[in-house]
Amino acid sequence: MARGLDPAATDAAGPRLWSDDAVVYEIYPRSFQDGDGDGVGDLAGIRSRLPYLEWLGVDAIWLAPIYASPLADYGYDVSDHEAIAPEYGTDLDFDLLVADAHDRGLRVVLDLVVSHTSIEHRWFRERPDFYVWADGPEPPNNWRASFGGPAWSRDPVSGRLYLHSFYAEQPDLNWRNPEVREAMADVVRHWIGRGADGFRVDAVDRMVKDAELRDDPPGRDPFPLPIPEEVRRLDLIHSRDSPEIGRLALAALRAAAGDAPLIGEVYLPVDRVIPYLDHLDGVFGFELLHADWDADQLGAAIDRSSAAGAVAWVTSNHDFPRVATRWGKENARAAAVLLLTLGNSAFVYQGEEIGMVDGPPADPPLDRYGRDGCRRPMQWDGSATGGFSAGRPWLQPFDPERCNVAAQIGDEGSILNLFRALIALRRRIDGAPIRVEAPPGMLAFERGRHRIVVNLGADGTSTPVPQGSALALATSVAAARIESGELRLDGHGAAILQLA
Ligand code: GLC
Repeated sequence: MARGLDPAATDAAGPRLWSDDAVVYEIYPRSFQDGDGDGVGDLAGIRSRLPYLEWLGVDAIWLAPIYASPLADYGYDVSDHEAIAPEYGTDLDFDLLVADAHDRGLRVVLDLVVSHTSIEHRWFRERPDFYVWADGPEPPNNWRASFGGPAWSRDPVSGRLYLHSFYAEQPDLNWRNPEVREAMADVVRHWIGRGADGFRVDAVDRMVKDAELRDDPPGRDPFPLPIPEEVRRLDLIHSRDSPEIGRLALAALRAAAGDAPLIGEVYLPVDRVIPYLDHLDGVFGFELLHADWDADQLGAAIDRSSAAGAVAWVTSNHDFPRVATRWGKENARAAAVLLLTLGNSAFVYQGEEIGMVDGPPADPPLDRYGRDGCRRPMQWDGSATGGFSAGRPWLQPFDPERCNVAAQIGDEGSILNLFRALIALRRRIDGAPIRVEAPPGMLAFERGRHRIVVNLGADGTSTPVPQGSALALATSVAAARIESGELRLDGHGAAILQLA
């Protein structure tokens, strides 16, 4: 029985793990709050904003990697898994952050980057057996790196080819080596000892590959982003998603983590993530993120994801265009209703609660894969640096004068206050989402005694509702009303009804 999915335990005692129905707020540390004026976000800065997160009502913060890194992949190339990046602070800053978060009832989730290290990690030279190598003049197969180009590069020192599922600066670990398992289990134990409450596990589907290094056959990768076209022309059945990932990799993390929840980034269609739940407590439901703002697509994504079980709902993160950019500013409020009412856990990326949009990439671009836009700093106030830093930001905030926390916090009608109200209300909503019929262009589902209705279109529209339904919350005061047995929703509006 998959951990966290034991129905007996769930029925008798409510959710088994704190993460099962948590709202987890993703912090991208470089861009959240700079505490020392060097232009780079840091742990002291995050700590100074905990009162805000407590006010917002989230249950936990997930810190994208805070570890030492040469930044080839902006922190996802870790050169020491147990060292805090100096620009983010010290061990003491981490301890203070965790203690303060815990005092406020906020859990702390760390990022476990386990499928690869930085090429500057000392293991790459000292423990070549921790990595995957091939010899010969040509790569042993047709595998492509996720960001494009061959998945094999030549190490100038040894002259051998090493495998990398992402950038060449990120050599893949060889989880078939039991000592890799032990070393990573040590990392998990280290951070649990330092107070971590759970982990988001990076790139799980890449942890173990085909032992025979067979070619990926031609095919069509299912997700539109962020995979380049040259990679999508292959069916990545051998370079990822090995049936051995659970036994050879996740089992060791699971044992080391004990009761601390593990939420996996398994970048696969949701019907293929189910086996991963034998070892993980949740997996991100990327189908929702990849759906267009369209009732049929979103409905299908919700149905497929709900069927998988412990799906952590996510509509944006540090890798993808933000909601307001992807689905339109006008739909950001309705998208918040959707994310926060689907049940299970919901991951809110920093800045989504104020409806931030992506900025353009930095000039010249910093992230080689074009993700600068969604990583622009958090906008706390309307000043030139958005209150993010007293110095010169590493990446300029995009439009703080138009969109910022200070302007929204006292405005009852702001998207920020909608997020806060939704987070409070969701605690009173139970049950799995069951879709109910709705007119074209609308999406509706029920959870227990609540019905959630979203109007995806620009025009006002109505749908019949059960007698005695009362409006619990809507995207704005004027967006929804119940009249003669019908819910009338403005264009782009959404509402939560309490059923009789
Ligand atoms: C995950 C991270 C992404 C990173 C990649 C490689 O997908 O979210 O930012 O580039 O893993 O570590």
